[in-house]
Amino acid sequence: MKTKLQQWAKPLLASALLALLPLASHAADPVKIGFLVKQAEEPWFQDEWKYAEQAAKDKGFTLVKIGIPNGEKMMAAIDNLAAQKAQGFVICAPDVKLGAAVARAAKRHDLKVISVDDQLVDGAGKPIAGIPHMGISGYEIGKQVGLGLLEEIKKRGWNLNEVGALRVAFDQLPTGRERTMGAIDALKAAGLPAANVIDAPQAKTDTENAFNAANIAFTKNPKFKHWVAMGMNDEAVLGAVRAGEGRGIRKDELIAIGIGGSQTALNEFTKPAPTAFFGTVLISPKRHGYETAANMHSWITTNQAPPAVTLTSGTLMTRQNQTELRKQMGL
Ligand code: GLA
Repeated sequence: MKTKLQQWAKPLLASALLALLPLASHAADPVKIGFLVKQAEEPWFQDEWKYAEQAAKDKGFTLVKIGIPNGEKMMAAIDNLAAQKAQGFVICAPDVKLGAAVARAAKRHDLKVISVDDQLVDGAGKPIAGIPHMGISGYEIGKQVGLGLLEEIKKRGWNLNEVGALRVAFDQLPTGRERTMGAIDALKAAGLPAANVIDAPQAKTDTENAFNAANIAFTKNPKFKHWVAMGMNDEAVLGAVRAGEGRGIRKDELIAIGIGGSQTALNEFTKPAPTAFFGTVLISPKRHGYETAANMHSWITTNQAPPAVTLTSGTLMTRQNQTELRKQMGL
């Protein structure tokens, strides 16, 4: 009787095991995570990648880094990740309005997605639910830029009526607009006349395009005695600084504060003679790179999705406190 039952049960047991096999082998697949960034040449994104690599080493997964300067490259990168059997990716897209396309491609390939830096939106401009995001608190950090400028304006004894506020603008990116508007609002709250705000729209978010935009704005507005400059990142603000130098604006008549604190800012701070690049709000590529990659890893391995939105903060960094501050932030 006993042997009979065993013989009868054997094929059943075998087929049950076979049915489980695909599941088991899927779970045992090595974890592979993509990290896709819009501007791989920018120091901020290099730093993000560096810290994501650190997470990969600590947690034991493979990181696939791909630069995605446009929508076509972005779609190809997502397909490529799927073909490589990745399980998810972190993305800073070349255009946030590609959000629906990213969500669709990820769904089609069964890939998890987390956005970093620039929050993806749908056709109506609404953040895409289901894609967790980590970015900076743009408006607050912008206000810190404004307050930093005000403090220095006061030290120099400038009259706000004679100060032009150059806003290197990239308003199609919501975080870009929030950052620069935060700075402008802080200046206006302290008494800067609205008419003193000069917008310099940049065609692309790099120093060259910021330089061109700032150059036109400075040329068109010779009436201001002093200037302050702000932008969405250090590259934008550096463009304004270089344009000011080109236009003969004395470096003590321009105060520029950026956002970032990566190599672009450090290069300015380590020049023997200070330039008009007065400071930057230091934000954390470590949190953005390490945490998003580590969060993706635990989402894949334990099915724990990260919080819907995480906003990170920043601290004003100048030549004086740069070394200390970067150390404090583990950079
Ligand atoms: C945007 C900018 C980058 C950097 C990040 C920080 O993506 O383009 O330069 O400032 O935000 O989140």
